[in-house]
Amino acid sequence: MKFFIDTANLAQIQEAHDLGILDGVTTNPSLMAKEGIRGEEAIMKHYETICEMVKGDVSAEVIATDFDGIIAEGKKLAALHPRIVVKVPMIKDGVKAIKWFTENKIKTNCTLVFSAGQAILAAKAGATYVSPFIGRIDDGGWDGVELIAQIANIYNIQGFKTEILAASIRSPLHIIKCAEVGADVCTCPLDSILGLLKHPLTDIGLAKFLEDAKKTR
Ligand code: G3P
Repeated sequence: MKFFIDTANLAQIQEAHDLGILDGVTTNPSLMAKEGIRGEEAIMKHYETICEMVKGDVSAEVIATDFDGIIAEGKKLAALHPRIVVKVPMIKDGVKAIKWFTENKIKTNCTLVFSAGQAILAAKAGATYVSPFIGRIDDGGWDGVELIAQIANIYNIQGFKTEILAASIRSPLHIIKCAEVGADVCTCPLDSILGLLKHPLTDIGLAKFLEDAKKTR
């Protein structure tokens, strides 16, 4: 399973990259706004900076919701860097646009996916990635990981090539569960990635080893 970081914060991207386990980055308009990035020029520059920092795919989301607007915006984003993936919402014109991008060899990430039916449509349109938002599903009292498992099963049976990118990750347990049920990618906040490191027995064990090591020096 690939690890993407779900942020537009450059320091956090750098920290995950320095850990040596980062395979890509996802952003969205809310994450860009959180970093105070304003204006088209600044937004484009920010995506370029992220692409220079990491080796993997970088998802950049369109704002347009009509077919022509999505295509125009997506073309501009894709022209920024070969590793830009155009993030398109799961709406009717979005599906049409994903099909167009697929035919024109532009990679896509179909976002705001909350059902297996939406995931089937994204795959039929040829999306490179499909992004089910598992944390937001859990927030509503359903089971986000169950949706990942259902989509993985359908894609496997049908031979769809679209990669399942589990998004809206809220905890290290989400990452583990997504790995168990066959997500291809998990896009995570830095805290959830770092949370995977933690175990009290590791800390206790290390303290004891370091203490005993003093007896050998
Ligand atoms: O990038 C999309 C997704 O990961 C958003 O997560 O935490 O806003 O539900 P969240």
